[in-house]
Amino acid sequence: MKSKLSFADVSFSYGEKPIVQHFSLQIGQGEFVSLIGPSGVGKSTLFQLATGLLAPTAGTISLNGEKERTLLGKVGYMPQKDLLMPWRTVAENAALPLEIKGVDKHASTERVMELLPAFGLKGWEHAYPDQLSGGMRQRVSLLRAVLAGNDLLLLDEPFSALDGITRMEMQEWLLGVCERLGTTIMLITHDIDEAILLADRVLVLAQTPLTQAIEVPILLPRPRRGEHRYDPAFLALREEIWRILQERRAQSGEKGRWQAQ
Ligand SMILES: Nc1ncnc2c1ncn2[C@@H]1O[C@H](COP(=O)(O)OP(=O)(O)OP(=O)(O)O)[C@@H](O)[C@H]1O
Ligand SMILES: [Mg+2]
Repeated sequence: MKSKLSFADVSFSYGEKPIVQHFSLQIGQGEFVSLIGPSGVGKSTLFQLATGLLAPTAGTISLNGEKERTLLGKVGYMPQKDLLMPWRTVAENAALPLEIKGVDKHASTERVMELLPAFGLKGWEHAYPDQLSGGMRQRVSLLRAVLAGNDLLLLDEPFSALDGITRMEMQEWLLGVCERLGTTIMLITHDIDEAILLADRVLVLAQTPLTQAIEVPILLPRPRRGEHRYDPAFLALREEIWRILQERRAQSGEKGRWQAQ
């Protein structure tokens, strides 16, 4: 499989505190990879390294097999905290990456309007972020990442503020996107079921500093549907991931609370 994103022997610290240490990882073109792990373990830090917002202190991050001078702007990124601009409407926020790319206003508005219904935002194009619920803001932020048009999407807990039903609808929508367009997707989640349902591989990040991810291949057939949650194979995977998280926590003597949802 062609490599889309790779970390080779990457290290990163916040001051004296090492977060990532000699960490290597390969993500193949078109792969869907979920990242799961306790709060504070370093998941968002990995994404910030992959988007070029943070620079590794050692090691190399490559995109499409090539070391980039800067990764900024080359990756579709939905940050954990939505960074919507309060003075821009829903449509204007969503269109931002198209604007930056120089797409003309008419064409970019058309693209945005086309996708609004799938994101449950139809009729909200003229609203401002402070008029939206947390879940709606999250969906605008996801729409913006998707419209960045990059074939690598990094989604940091994209569905955490959604109610259960909307969450399942958005998961199915995302499954459709990656199956139709072959987009490479990395998704951080605290939800074991979500991690399994969407992914070709789940990477469990259990301890800081991150030295390696524990890989769990998800060999469930595609196309995936929500009903896969009830397969015995799915339940076995859930059990396995849960066990890895528990074991690692016991080994590290960590007292932090692991939240299962
Ligand atoms: N700007 C910063 N300065 C100093 N330390 C930071 C900074 N951002 C994060 N950290 C620390 O780095 C570690 C990893 O943080 P990170 O945000 O990557 O965790 P996470 O796995 O995404 O957690 P969560 O699931 O809660 O989002 C944490 O211990 C955090 O306190
Ligand atoms: Mg995080």
